[in-house]
Amino acid sequence: MPSRKFLLALAFAALAAVGAQAAGTALSVKDEMKTVVDPASTTLFAVGGEVDPANGPDAAKVPPARWEEAGAAAARLEAIAAGLQQPGRAKDAGPWMTYAKQMAVTAGAAGKAAQARNGAGLSQAANDLSDTCSGCHAKYRPKT
Ligand code: HEC
Repeated sequence: MPSRKFLLALAFAALAAVGAQAAGTALSVKDEMKTVVDPASTTLFAVGGEVDPANGPDAAKVPPARWEEAGAAAARLEAIAAGLQQPGRAKDAGPWMTYAKQMAVTAGAAGKAAQARNGAGLSQAANDLSDTCSGCHAKYRPKT
């Protein structure tokens, strides 16, 4: 059995992590991209494909839970995009801010489309969001 003190320490550590994350400073950009942005956008891009009317009549049968997952992922990405614009996090006041703002706008559009069950809107917003990822990465992501 872990001691009570240990459990308390764990609880405080978890709280501190949540607080720091709310302030947008807990994770490096790299870790945030890997642990939050990547999974959220994978969900959003997948649902964007499923609800795309261009993919045929199946789009209309996407279950409510899927739309909700897309909405939640969009909200997460919008929050991250706001964090990327914070002083200390933004790499410059120029193109970085433009990309981060575009990320917020396109994620916001995806969230609204998901709420409205608008398949064409969601797939378009997912495409636009993806362009934003690529744009920022082309300029700021270290080449490997
Ligand atoms: C405002 C700029 C910006 C935007 C917008 C952006 N990224 Fe990133 N991303 C970065 C930077 C900078 C790195 C490299 C971080 C490093 O290696 O230090 C990165 C790295 C990553 C990585 C690699 C993490 C790793 O394990 O090395 C993934 C995955 C990623 N981004 C996904 C995304 C996706 C998906 C989107 C769009 C939804 C997105 N990013 C939008 C700046 C951005």
